[in-house]
Amino acid sequence: MEFDPNECDSMTAPEAASDVAAVPQPVAAPLTRAAIFLVVTINPGSDHRASLRSFCGDLAGLVRAVEFRDIEAGLSCVMGIGSDAWDLLLGAPRPAELHPFREIRADGRHAVSTAGDLMFHIRAKRMDLCFELATQIMARIGTAVTTVDEVHGFRYFDDRDLLGFVDGTENPRGAAVIDATLIGGEDAAFAGGSYVIVQKYLHDLGAWNTLSTEAQERIIGRTKLSDIELDDAIKPTSAHSALTTIVEDGKEVKILRDNMPFGRVGQGEFGTYFIGYSRSPRVTEQMIENMFVGRPPGNYDRLLDFSRAVTGNLFFAPSASFLEDVTEDEPAAAALPAAPAAVESSQSIPSVPDGSLGVGSLKAV
Ligand code: HEM
Repeated sequence: MEFDPNECDSMTAPEAASDVAAVPQPVAAPLTRAAIFLVVTINPGSDHRASLRSFCGDLAGLVRAVEFRDIEAGLSCVMGIGSDAWDLLLGAPRPAELHPFREIRADGRHAVSTAGDLMFHIRAKRMDLCFELATQIMARIGTAVTTVDEVHGFRYFDDRDLLGFVDGTENPRGAAVIDATLIGGEDAAFAGGSYVIVQKYLHDLGAWNTLSTEAQERIIGRTKLSDIELDDAIKPTSAHSALTTIVEDGKEVKILRDNMPFGRVGQGEFGTYFIGYSRSPRVTEQMIENMFVGRPPGNYDRLLDFSRAVTGNLFFAPSASFLEDVTEDEPAAAALPAAPAAVESSQSIPSVPDGSLGVGSLKAV
């Protein structure tokens, strides 16, 4: 991912979209050397919910305080809120497409859906800044939440994943980032927000490394050393880059990824933390379905023969403006029992009546 941060950062994004009034969270923050992914669940108790609501408005100030200690290091934080947590903390109205992560099972492949109410995606050029911000966040909300996953990611050589391939090349850049990630008029109350899907993958590096470089390249769909897309004549339809290419009404629909390698060498743990921001979760869900089920079914992503998803969550990252306006007061709707979780264990992705993903014609408003 190499788009110019000056071309597209959290402050210029809404203007670039020309008429999205809300300031988004820094979903389009540039590539960094370090990242922390923190996923927590909310502890029961109305006092905890009140302190989390008041924290929403204070997060930006906390980021500013840590960021200023090395302003060049590009510290940023995106906070995501899960479907059940949204009902619990914020009530109505809710983002139109927010729902729990949809689990997929297909022939032994399993995209798991795991616990997670809030997510913090903390990025900077320096891990110490990420660490300090994570510490400050937990100092504020630690008693109100339980951490269910914490991953410290690092940039590996020329933006490679631990499988050895450059990861992020085909991300949208410049103004296309806004179109791919930020909600516009289709859900006006949540304009400037973004959906976030995360999956933590563990790789069987031993098995992967028994493959020839050519076999690995056919699985990814690009050359390993030079990161050039394989010619269609030799790129299998099951290649990762083929299955994750979604075309709607003749136009490619993109998401913004900021995957990070992580691991513990002594434990034999080698992983990729997948994070994808999108304007509609259906795009990322369709990609995951193509990978796990296959397009057509059975023509699945062979990356999954060497990679296992051990977490899966869907969050909504409201705009920064929305977060700042959250008050400590209990929302009226939160007193009601939360709507039953619309978890689907089937492999279907809901589509709009014309059978399309319904995102091809989205325009920023
Ligand atoms: C095991 C975890 C994963 C690894 C190691 C991985 C690695 C890669 C690599 C090396 C590329 C090619 C370079 C690039 O364009 O970025 C790529 C492309 C891509 N990946 Fe993944 N990926 C993983 C999971 C996912 C998941 C879960 C999704 C979607 C839900 C996804 C979506 C994409 C997309 C959209 C592209 C660009 C395709 C194109 O336009 O050519 N990846 N990935």
